[in-house]
Amino acid sequence: MTESTLVLIKPDGVKRNLIGEVIRRCEQKGYSVTQLRKLTPTRELLAQHYAEHEGKPFYEPLLEFMLSGDVVAIELTGNRVIEGFRSLAGSTEPTAAAPGTIRGDLGRDWGTKVVQNLVHGSDSKESAERELKLWF
Ligand code: RTP
Ligand code: MG
Repeated sequence: MTESTLVLIKPDGVKRNLIGEVIRRCEQKGYSVTQLRKLTPTRELLAQHYAEHEGKPFYEPLLEFMLSGDVVAIELTGNRVIEGFRSLAGSTEPTAAAPGTIRGDLGRDWGTKVVQNLVHGSDSKESAERELKLWF
């Protein structure tokens, strides 16, 4: 029942030199990094990735933020890793995210237009399959 999820280390995480810290937490939990790439995403890729959010007030600021620097894309693999990484990441808002989570320990509100929360993790099996095809 092994499965894979897409993890993205967003531009704030890359700029703050937290690539190793995020990967360390994934590996210490017992998941495996099965593919890894660092890239500057195109607007087209991000539009596909965030298609579900098109038209929402935070959509444009979100794309601008994601275009502001390099992103690290990771295929993370293990039993129930989709749910497991969401749990490691913590809730969307870093201010409210539980201590012990990536967003809770390493993130905060920086007063930016869109919340900068360090990582992305696929939210379902369907999303994971779709997103992994986009990024790898
Ligand atoms: P992600 O997709 O990045 O793992 O995060 P998520 O499921 O916790 O959040 P989601 O609702 O999918 O939103 C995607 C990303 O959009 C930004 N966002 N900003 N109201 C806001 O300012 C707002 N809402 C969402 C965040 O960067 C969020 O991770
Ligand atoms: Mg999401």
